[in-house]
Amino acid sequence: MIGQEKLRVDGPLKVSGKAKYASEHPVDNPLYAVIVKSTISNGTITNMATEEVEKIPGVVKVIHAGNALKLRPYPTGGDGGFNLFPGEPFIPLQDNKVYNIGQHIALILAETIEDARLGASRLKVSYQEKAAALDKERVYDDYVTPERYNTGEELQHRRGNFKQAKNSASVVVEEDYTVPAEHHNPMEPSATIAIWKGEKLTVYDSTQGVDNSRNCVAHCFEMDPKNVRLIAYYIGGGFGCKGFFWPHTLLAPMAAKIMDRPVKLILSREDMYTSAGHRPEVSQRITLAAENNGNITAAEHITYSYGSILGGHYEPCGLTSAKLYDIPNFSMVHQYTKLNYPTPTPMRGPGEANGSFALESALDELAEKLKMDAIDLRVKNFAAVNPVDNLPYSSNNVRECYERGAKLFGWNNRNRQPGKMVKNGQLIGHGMATATYPAYRSGGSCKLILDENGVLTVQTAIQDIGTGTYTVMGQIAAEASGLALENIKIEIGDSDFPAGPLSGGSMVTASAGSYIQKGAEKLKKQLLDLAVKQEDSPLFQLNSDKLSFANGTMQDSSGKKDTIQEVMKRANKKELVIEESSSVVKGFAFGQEAEYSYQSFGAIFVEANIDPDLGVITIPRIVGVFDAGTIINPKLANSQMYGGIIFGYSMALLEATEFDHDTGRIINADLAEYHVPVNADINDLTIEFLNMPDYKFSSHGGRGIGELSAIGVSAAIANAIYNATGKRIRNLPITLDKLL
Ligand code: MOS
Repeated sequence: MIGQEKLRVDGPLKVSGKAKYASEHPVDNPLYAVIVKSTISNGTITNMATEEVEKIPGVVKVIHAGNALKLRPYPTGGDGGFNLFPGEPFIPLQDNKVYNIGQHIALILAETIEDARLGASRLKVSYQEKAAALDKERVYDDYVTPERYNTGEELQHRRGNFKQAKNSASVVVEEDYTVPAEHHNPMEPSATIAIWKGEKLTVYDSTQGVDNSRNCVAHCFEMDPKNVRLIAYYIGGGFGCKGFFWPHTLLAPMAAKIMDRPVKLILSREDMYTSAGHRPEVSQRITLAAENNGNITAAEHITYSYGSILGGHYEPCGLTSAKLYDIPNFSMVHQYTKLNYPTPTPMRGPGEANGSFALESALDELAEKLKMDAIDLRVKNFAAVNPVDNLPYSSNNVRECYERGAKLFGWNNRNRQPGKMVKNGQLIGHGMATATYPAYRSGGSCKLILDENGVLTVQTAIQDIGTGTYTVMGQIAAEASGLALENIKIEIGDSDFPAGPLSGGSMVTASAGSYIQKGAEKLKKQLLDLAVKQEDSPLFQLNSDKLSFANGTMQDSSGKKDTIQEVMKRANKKELVIEESSSVVKGFAFGQEAEYSYQSFGAIFVEANIDPDLGVITIPRIVGVFDAGTIINPKLANSQMYGGIIFGYSMALLEATEFDHDTGRIINADLAEYHVPVNADINDLTIEFLNMPDYKFSSHGGRGIGELSAIGVSAAIANAIYNATGKRIRNLPITLDKLL
């Protein structure tokens, strides 16, 4: 089962509209809620003309700081045993203060969503506005000058003596690279439905973490988590903006409690630009210093970005640079300011995707200066041991990725000199970059219930964000239990099930897959042990360790057989239940004690075609070869990699959130002005997996793949464009005007 191209089990439900997203769950007599967002970036609300809005037919109530429920704040320092991961530790509608544009300042409740929208558009709000810190490069007056500060130790790594080694090197590259802010734009915007029944609360929410969201709701409403049920059966993408818990998920239960009616709160596309995080703009300076033979002796990666006043995510671009290559003298610096912008959050490969653009572009610049092949330079500086924690990688086959990718792509045909390859009047460029992402594994638990008909139900509080989790968990459970795939029922997306990890950090398949596999193996052993003890079984008194068990049939080498149904009937059992859990793998976090470093790798190869007169960029083909351990389902994994590569393409050439640095407003908060690729942009994509199991990391040998594929692509494209044109573009996105 593991390694087979099974079709996605939720496919028919998805294409027929039967897989319900959060807002689509039918509810009796709901009220619709629409958020009113702050239009200033810093200040205080002085008045809100709520009576006018409440007179609009259909509008039922305006909830604001004056009449909202007081909720329990998030704890500062330790979370009292809860696992709480809010996107920002902020409870909405608790006072009149405003910290950023888009902050939720009121909620309009109405009988229809149209009435609620009308109400929201008519609510007149007066503010006392203060100057806001909105530009990380600007110095403000004393009151708002953002504090520029270095982060804690885990983001300030130093080894050797960077300055000294740099000064004695033969060749130095020192350049600045920028990546703009970006938004996740999942197909399904975030949405929450809240239904109270006495003390019990049911929440349908579009989230990458049902367990975390349940815990956050329970904490803020001071409830026993057992009384909160958070459901997310199907999710239309997340990419990180649904990874942590956002304030709107508190507003629906608050409104439902006040009104004593179910409430549906659906964020608009525009709401999504301020209510669920974004990838913050980053400036990076990379310095690489090398000997003439290509040995990189010193490197520095300085990241400069911002966080919000309310707190939350800081983009860590240097982490990967510090460990990807064997560089003896390294300096990693992260500096941030706090600005009055909506809170940033992880977005597919947070720190890696934008960090690798800078690092892998700089490596190309270094190869150029050294007159060395881009792959040779990377191989020369290969790290078998992670130089940050000095632990060997559990499995690092990046050199095999380079080799295989180069062959598939035809890298040998490349002319290293820019502007030399021309075809049909187009400049042709070839570029490559390394892809890499940490392998994370979290703890969690599951319940396995085998019934008398031989159907195995697997329950765990994970979720399928659209990547195929239902399918691959089924394959893992089928393989490990000996049951046929059709007889496995995967039940996830419900916080009432045993706690499971976030679908974030590309870790759900390794995390939940490992404890499900272990549990299913135990179940299989129990069944076989049961069979060989039954006098009426054809397997009576055989050695249970020597029996095979697949597709629901257990048998010995001579062909004696028994079935689950028979074994269960003889044992007079209606069900067999197993609970299994696993804890966090050591070394999963930066700097923890561990035996190995866990990381996935890949190599991306790109051909760029440039129209020399117009600067129009076409990417006719991209090849990606990946080392991510065992691939559970190559078909679904391929789709993931297509998505990730297109994500990287988009970062390289299209995406940018335009903030107005004077007002804090986002200028292009919609899919008309915020550009993402369409099918016509994407041409030939070739994906290959090395498929080399990493059993040191997970029980099935698989590592994560979701984020890996989005990394390195933007640099490979920039490097290909350089090879075509001789123009080195260090500021994303690479739009045609930059090539003219
Ligand atoms: Mo991902 S950015 O870890 O959801």
